[in-house]
Amino acid sequence: MADIEGLREAKDVKISGTGSAAGFHLKGSAHLDWGMKNRMSRIIKPDTGRTVMLAVDHGYFQGPTSGLEVMEKTLEPLIPYADCLMLTRGILRTSVPPGCQTPIVLRVSGGQSVLTELSNETWNVDVDDCIRLNAAGMAFSIYVGAQHEHQTLVAFSDLIDAGYAAGIPVLAVTAVGREMARDARYLSLSSRIAAEMGANIVKTYYCQNFTKVTGTCPVPIVMAGGKKLPELEALEMAFKAVSEGAVGVDMGRNIFQSDSPVGMIKAVRAVVHCNEKPKTALKIYEDEKKTSKAPKVKAKASRPKSRK
Ligand code: 5RP
Repeated sequence: MADIEGLREAKDVKISGTGSAAGFHLKGSAHLDWGMKNRMSRIIKPDTGRTVMLAVDHGYFQGPTSGLEVMEKTLEPLIPYADCLMLTRGILRTSVPPGCQTPIVLRVSGGQSVLTELSNETWNVDVDDCIRLNAAGMAFSIYVGAQHEHQTLVAFSDLIDAGYAAGIPVLAVTAVGREMARDARYLSLSSRIAAEMGANIVKTYYCQNFTKVTGTCPVPIVMAGGKKLPELEALEMAFKAVSEGAVGVDMGRNIFQSDSPVGMIKAVRAVVHCNEKPKTALKIYEDEKKTSKAPKVKAKASRPKSRK
């Protein structure tokens, strides 16, 4: 039985003020429930309000991708520098150590391949499995303006309902597809639709007049990387994106297809979390590349002392 003798009387009271639990660092998220906010905070860091997500889900429609052939090899050195991993449940279960503390945004849409119509995609991972896998978020592609727009938007609405029921935020991936125009008009249209439908985070491409996209989207935006660019160009794009309102990046090929993936993710972190200028960040990449390529100095084999 609990010892009730000598219990101290409660004296501390709080009559006014909001308290530390009231504020939240992300736009459009202040009214979410605690579990949602906690998961959002695991994906987008409260100390900077930013995130470097590493996107490695490409195989779900394009099979083995250059740089992602053997997932453990790619992931092992990068995981310590990623705020979050975006990947499929197949890769999570086969190639990520369960002791990994990095939050996971699970790709939950699919159903097509690079050989067919890209927009023919739907919701393909049950929320129960996301819970089982301890996902911090769920990522789903919507194909606004494409052949299967309606199908993806309807499935997206169902996912949003399930996400709210489980307390798992949904990240909408917008503007993928071969013929999608990547300008502010289209990207703001698709990002806004995603947010109106209930997305908690939107992933979209950088474009001219990007503030039109970030400024008309009521939830945080992360910038998609896109095809591999020279490192400085990729850093410049990330710098412009965060300066113009993105909360970070969800980048894949520009990191893992770099000749120094660790150098590149460190440089991207400097831009995203410290607002480092692209040229300064490039130096981080170059230094890391040099260090990792430098021949390892062999320790001199110590000879056993001769016995006298
Ligand atoms: C496409 C995705 C991918 O995760 C993402 O676009 C790939 O990243 P990157 O373009 O930077 O290689 O969401 O469906």
